Amino acid sequence: MAMMDDSENKTVNPRVAAGAATIGDVIGLRLSRRGFLGGLGAVSGLALAGCTTGQAAPAAVDAEVAETAAQGAFRFDEIARGLDAGHHVAAGYDADVLIRWGDPLFADSPAFDPMNQTAAAQRRQFGYNNDYIGHVPLEADAEGRERVILCVNHEYTSTNLMLPGVTAGYPASMTRELCEIEMAAHGGTILEIRKEGGKWNPVVGSPYNRRITADTTPMQMTGPAAGSARLQTTDDPTGTMVSGTMNNCAGGITPWGTYLMAEENFNGNFLGELPEGHREAENHKRYGVPSGWYQWGRFFDRYAVSKEPNEPNRFGWIVEVDPMDPNSVPTKRTALGRVKHEGAESVVAPDGRVVVYTGDDQRFDYVYKFVTKGKFVAGDKAANANLLDEGTLYVARFDADGTLAWLPLVYGTGPLTEENGFASQADVLIETRRAGVLLGATPMDRPEDVEPNPKTGRVYVMLTNNDRRTEAQVNAANPRASNRFGHIIEIIEPEGDFTSETSRWEILVKCGDPSIAQVGATWNPLTTEHGWLASPDNCAIDPQGRLWISTDGNDDTGAADGLWALETDGERRGTGRHFFRCPVGAEMCGPRFNDSGDALFLAVQHPGDTQGASFEAPGTRWPDFSDAMPPRPSVVVVTKQGGGPIGG
Ligand code: FEO
Ligand code: CA
Ligand code: CA
Repeated sequence: MAMMDDSENKTVNPRVAAGAATIGDVIGLRLSRRGFLGGLGAVSGLALAGCTTGQAAPAAVDAEVAETAAQGAFRFDEIARGLDAGHHVAAGYDADVLIRWGDPLFADSPAFDPMNQTAAAQRRQFGYNNDYIGHVPLEADAEGRERVILCVNHEYTSTNLMLPGVTAGYPASMTRELCEIEMAAHGGTILEIRKEGGKWNPVVGSPYNRRITADTTPMQMTGPAAGSARLQTTDDPTGTMVSGTMNNCAGGITPWGTYLMAEENFNGNFLGELPEGHREAENHKRYGVPSGWYQWGRFFDRYAVSKEPNEPNRFGWIVEVDPMDPNSVPTKRTALGRVKHEGAESVVAPDGRVVVYTGDDQRFDYVYKFVTKGKFVAGDKAANANLLDEGTLYVARFDADGTLAWLPLVYGTGPLTEENGFASQADVLIETRRAGVLLGATPMDRPEDVEPNPKTGRVYVMLTNNDRRTEAQVNAANPRASNRFGHIIEIIEPEGDFTSETSRWEILVKCGDPSIAQVGATWNPLTTEHGWLASPDNCAIDPQGRLWISTDGNDDTGAADGLWALETDGERRGTGRHFFRCPVGAEMCGPRFNDSGDALFLAVQHPGDTQGASFEAPGTRWPDFSDAMPPRPSVVVVTKQGGGPIGG
């Protein structure tokens, strides 16, 4: 989601004629790339040895790939930057709306009636503001139709756009019932989809279909913080059970096929103040609790911090869900730390341990990775079931010489002791951010998606922007003050060893308009006027190992958010190419490819959310374009006309 506490600076910088990316930048990129290509043989060997993710089968990196990199890895004609009420995709592709907010999931789901919404109906319908999209393949059905399970997060609700009659008179216009509708629209949806006649469609009533909500889905808490006194509440004196999950931004699919939901901006859902000197006061402050973006705390004690001071400690975790069993109890895995987790993408390291990368999406917060203690066993569901309960959580320090030190967050080591207020590993995990400060982690420019490429041993970090960084606060990994347009860092794990405590890093691109010198963007000069982007947020690695970037804030440059392909190798490294454009007011989330790469799932989040927009007067009525319908966040599926891989 866009940062809701932004004080946006909309000043347009004066344009200059020359591109900002210098030849020196590009030569530097090429040289460093050549250096890494020398090591690709080793990575290729690792890949062949069985290095996998839940997303894509491994493949060797070989001479053919290197040759392709020199020509450019993508084959499509890019679309133009622009801003209008609809969506746009590259020529030769179809972008079809797959499922919309309010669409039915079950045989008994009520028809969507935006003027008469209820929480009960919403619990049986697709939720609001789709974000992460996961993909779990199923066997084809008896008629040979391709089937998959989609796992979709519903990050938050846009109260003004979603509910009729509340914008005028807000917040007094909010009622208990309206808050319950919002809770029901948060969380996630698991649904089966099926391909028929070349088109994907939801399977309404599939036994896999499930809604997960902010308030009615029982969850367990496991790992080192489970049972901590700091997680105990009136509803749950054990500190091990919690109803619901919220602010589920990006996520991941594990190598064993479970769905990870990252809890991000939970601070916004709490109201009220703690008394001076309360034990949790400083902790909550570090997470921005309470931010009061929602009115839930007026009607439900658990969201009123003064009444339930520990409740915020039960959010900000990574939630693991088994999408194959709609009756399974989701699990908040505390070993992965408590931050505003953007995502949770994982990879199997050469030695079989699993590594999960997460970003903490806040200005000046950190990048993390979690390395399991146990090893992944292919095909053994029971053996992998609790891998995420034991392991080491690391926070990143990006040094100026290009070294990345992964610093372990382990109770009793270094500064993480009683002297600094940590009495256990539970305390370290509940206050992950404070532990990171003490370890000297590098404050970043809003780390969002962090995604490993199993084919290359490289990892991509989306740094969305940070307009509050001053000149005195720049560092090598965040080199621009007032960084309005973000950048992308590439981490190189040595010899493809994702568990390494020492890695290398470099900046792949500094985002923004390269024709404005003051922006300081660094794109490959082969990038066209449409190919650059601003505010990278999520990303996806396709089955060919190519990188795709989605944005949240490109509209600050006067053109819609969307999806871009980004070259990572060869002569074209650092070249963007525009593939999909959102309708006005929307950000682009969820890019996810199916295993064959012939379907791309995209989440269009908060369409029509323009300045001053409301249910009554939205910025667009996408995708229905009916006066009787508000805009509806929707998942779009992109396919190539006539079939074939997305992007060529
Ligand atoms: Fe939910 Fe950081 O975007
Ligand atoms: Ca995001
Ligand atoms: Ca991603």
